[in-house]
Amino acid sequence: MDNTEKQEKYFEYNGIKFITNMTSVEHLDWVKDYKVHQDDVFIVSYPKSGTTWMQQIVSLVLADGDVDSVKNESLYQRAPWIDFQLFRQQPDSRTKLVLITSHLNYQMIPTALKKKMGKVIYIARNPKDVIVSSYHFHSYFQRLKVPKDFQEFLELFVEGDVFYGSWSDHIRDWYSNKEEISMLFVTYEEIHRDIRAGIEKIRKFLGKELDGKIIDTIIKYSKFENMRADPATNFLSLSKDLLDHDRGKFQRKGIVGDWKYNFLVAQNEWFDSIYQERMADFPVKFY
Ligand code: A3P
Repeated sequence: MDNTEKQEKYFEYNGIKFITNMTSVEHLDWVKDYKVHQDDVFIVSYPKSGTTWMQQIVSLVLADGDVDSVKNESLYQRAPWIDFQLFRQQPDSRTKLVLITSHLNYQMIPTALKKKMGKVIYIARNPKDVIVSSYHFHSYFQRLKVPKDFQEFLELFVEGDVFYGSWSDHIRDWYSNKEEISMLFVTYEEIHRDIRAGIEKIRKFLGKELDGKIIDTIIKYSKFENMRADPATNFLSLSKDLLDHDRGKFQRKGIVGDWKYNFLVAQNEWFDSIYQERMADFPVKFY
């Protein structure tokens, strides 16, 4: 793939790379003025941090664990990405759950959120696992440029030269503004360690009363294996033009610490030497 092809895949907005054909400068300008309703719930993350997992959990929490009421809706229909132009084609009937997803940086979100309209659930993940997950994602999500190898991708990630830009800027900006908006910050690792406690936290934040049986149901349907097998959550119905299903699965491994099997010792040391300094004052530690 040559440089021309690379440029066709991305464009820049505020110095950050976005995917051509999925969004545009005009659309990203439009997002800022989006009229947020008091009941809207935004799921926000840096890509590959467990966004779809959170879409499943939160949509089930909002539906009081009523699996039947959401089973015919894909995750995209339940919690569309405001970042993409497709968002504006959502039918107005999308009123059952008012769930919206975004990978946008804090500076680019609807300004109404900063006036405490709506709620935000931010999910963060160990950047090393994000890198590995994203590296694989690049090989089958057809809108992204396939990196030459893991080393090249690692360097691009550290430079913030990947779609949605720098991981550290993303998490820092959202985290440091968490008092400005109505926000719950959770990590992939904590949900993985204790999903019941994670759902409890989310339920409380959203002001929902759910009994233990309902929480059991949400746990069951949010399990990795379940989401991997369920057509509403596994993205297998998306065309090969978008996801090359022969080259990867959206629910790939779903574990904590997969980086240990992918980083060489030298790559890990190099990454640590940069990130330990870059994130030294950040209160949430991932490893
Ligand atoms: P891996 O590639 O490490 O397996 P996102 O939804 O933000 O794109 O994140 C995708 C990552 O979340 C993938 O990680 C995917 O497997 C993982 N994931 C998706 N559903 C999950 C689940 N139910 N439990 C645990 N991890 C899940």
